[in-house]
Amino acid sequence: MAIIKTSDQEDSPKRPSDNAARSDGGERSADKLKESKSLTNRRSSILSGKENSQDQKADSSVRPDNIDEYIGQTRLKAMMKMSIAAARNRGEALDHVLFYGPPGLGKTTLARVIANEMQARIHMTSGPALERPRDIIGLVHQLEEGDVLFIDEIHRLSRVAEELLYPAIEDFVIDLTTGKGHATRTMRLPLPRFTLVGATTKAGMLSNALRDRFGFVCRLEFYDQDELSKIVARTAGILNSDMTAEAVAAIASRARGTPRIANRLVRLVRDFGEYQQAATIDGELAEKALESYQVDKFGLDVTDRRLLEILIDNYDGGPVGLETLAATIGEDADTIEDVYEPFLIQKGFINRTPRGRMATPYAYQHLGKPPSKRVLNEFGNDARQLEIFKKADE
Ligand code: ADE
Repeated sequence: MAIIKTSDQEDSPKRPSDNAARSDGGERSADKLKESKSLTNRRSSILSGKENSQDQKADSSVRPDNIDEYIGQTRLKAMMKMSIAAARNRGEALDHVLFYGPPGLGKTTLARVIANEMQARIHMTSGPALERPRDIIGLVHQLEEGDVLFIDEIHRLSRVAEELLYPAIEDFVIDLTTGKGHATRTMRLPLPRFTLVGATTKAGMLSNALRDRFGFVCRLEFYDQDELSKIVARTAGILNSDMTAEAVAAIASRARGTPRIANRLVRLVRDFGEYQQAATIDGELAEKALESYQVDKFGLDVTDRRLLEILIDNYDGGPVGLETLAATIGEDADTIEDVYEPFLIQKGFINRTPRGRMATPYAYQHLGKPPSKRVLNEFGNDARQLEIFKKADE
């Protein structure tokens, strides 16, 4: 598979939230904000699903190339496998695919796997890089029959770019406009049949018109402990790091259901082991290495716990609006929504209600606090949920 990188898929600068406006002044709140930001930053580098520059380098050696090597997303894989085989049999390009879900779950990896399986070239770009019509035109001009065009952060395409893309996706033509005013001419040019693979963390921000043009719309799920253990063991093997099953399990349980984080933790534990001159990394050594990152066995780190604490202590368990929560924790709303919250929701610590976010009795239990009246009214003293908690805690 040839990879044609059309643009750097760098993280776009995000608007920092203006926390000062909400703080109650004084040194203590300034210190708290500083502390929260530094914890957040620490988290951003290790336990965020967002890709950093080290991941880009390191992941290329451990990334699966084909669908059989790919661990997890079982239903999605089965469907893709069948459709790829059918498309290849017919000698056609695969229908367009949209992957959505939290960062780090494998959207880019799957796009590469599709290209490999289709024995096609892949062109990689991102929504923000395709701002002007000429960016799109330049890109589609390079396409050859069967190529995969991967657009990361596709929800950030400009309106102009999106409208130029519609006929390209639907009818494999592009409308070129030349001249101005009365002299305006539109030329329709044919394009080779290609496969667009779009990726987004925000499916809700995609226009219906764009979403409807994808043949496959696939949500990526968090990985379970078993899948993450397999990924951790595979990565440790590729990195020639000898880890016991206990060490593998310790890493997997702290990876927040996210392969990118799992792989990052494998590298950290390997480095720790090397530094300690250990020939084999056992469970105890792995736990020791991971301890300094303050991630508990549910994969929750200081920032997650702080988010729950704020919900519980400052807002009586909620409901509280996303913007208010974001301002209190000193993060921007997008990061809370895309990076932190999905995992907390999936684990059952937070509920999204029409009135805002609420802590569940499960969250109270995790922090060792009795649920507030409001939370008990909303959820009841959900014994079933508490039972699950007990099992997970064993
Ligand atoms: N590395 C990152 N994601 C992976 C996956 N899903 N399967 C195997 N290795 C991976």
